[in-house]
Amino acid sequence: MARITAGVGSSHVPLLGVAVDQGKTRDDYFGPIFAGYDWTREWEKATKPDVVILVYNDHASAFDANIIPTFAIGCGELYKPADEGWGPRPVPDVVGHADMAWHIAQCLILDDFDMTIINEMDVDHGLTVPLSMMFGTPDAWPVKVIPLAVNVVTYPVPSGNRCWALGEAIARAVESYPEDLNVQIWGTGGMSHQLQGPRAGLLNREWDNRFMDLLIGDSQEARGIPHIEYLRETGSEGIEMVMWLIMRGALGRKTRLLHRHYHIPCSNTAIGHIVLEPEA
Ligand SMILES: [Fe+2]
Repeated sequence: MARITAGVGSSHVPLLGVAVDQGKTRDDYFGPIFAGYDWTREWEKATKPDVVILVYNDHASAFDANIIPTFAIGCGELYKPADEGWGPRPVPDVVGHADMAWHIAQCLILDDFDMTIINEMDVDHGLTVPLSMMFGTPDAWPVKVIPLAVNVVTYPVPSGNRCWALGEAIARAVESYPEDLNVQIWGTGGMSHQLQGPRAGLLNREWDNRFMDLLIGDSQEARGIPHIEYLRETGSEGIEMVMWLIMRGALGRKTRLLHRHYHIPCSNTAIGHIVLEPEA
C-alpha cells in the first residue's frame, strides 16, 4: 500500500532556478537562502521517496487565459521544462507516474473533486524550482512526479478550506493504491509577495511565520483564512500559499515539524520552507 510519509512546503521563486542554473547558490546573496535547504537535501537522500505529488501553479506556461483549470492533475508519462521566455531551464525532464496519477484522478473525481486531467504539458518554474531546491542538480530527478496544478493566478481561486479538503481526499486516494510506495506531497508557492501596483515588494515576515506555525500540530485554523486576508497581509501573489494547505490537509489530523526556514528578500518575495511528518 502506498503511504504519504511527509509533506514539504516551499516557495518556488523563478530567480532561485536562475541561481541554480548559473551556479550562484553559494554567493553572498543566495547563500543564506540555499543554506536553509541543505538539511532537506540530505533528508531527501536518506528518505528516498518514490513519488512526489507536487502541488504548484502554472504561470501561463502550459495554460493561458483560454483554459483555467481550478485543479488539474498530470496523468502523463513525461513533462518537459517549459520555455518561459528565455529558453527551457537546463534541468532533467520530469518523469510522471501515470498509473498512480490515473488512480488518484479516479478517486478524487469519485470523491466529488472535479479534476481536470492533463496528459501532456510542459512544466514551469513552479514545479522545477522546488525540485532543484530539494534535489540539487542531478542528471535525472530521483523521484517520479505527479504534477497537481492549482489556479492561483486568475480569480476566482479555490478557498483554503477547499484546498485542505482536496489534500484529505488525496491522502485517501494514495492509501488505496496497492503498490508499496513512499509518497511525499509538496505544497509550493508564496510566501508574501506582490509583483505589481503601488504595494509591489510587500513582504510580511510576521504573518508568513504565523502561517507556518499553523501548519504544525493539530490546528485546522489555517483552512479558514479568507482570501481577503492573504491579499491584505501578504500581497496579491501571497494567495499562492493556499497550495500549502493541500499538502497540510494530506498529512492528516496532526503533524510534527522536521525542518523550517525563512528568509527575506529573494527578488521581491519572501522565501518560506517547511518539512512536516504526519503524526498519529
Ligand atoms: Fe508562483
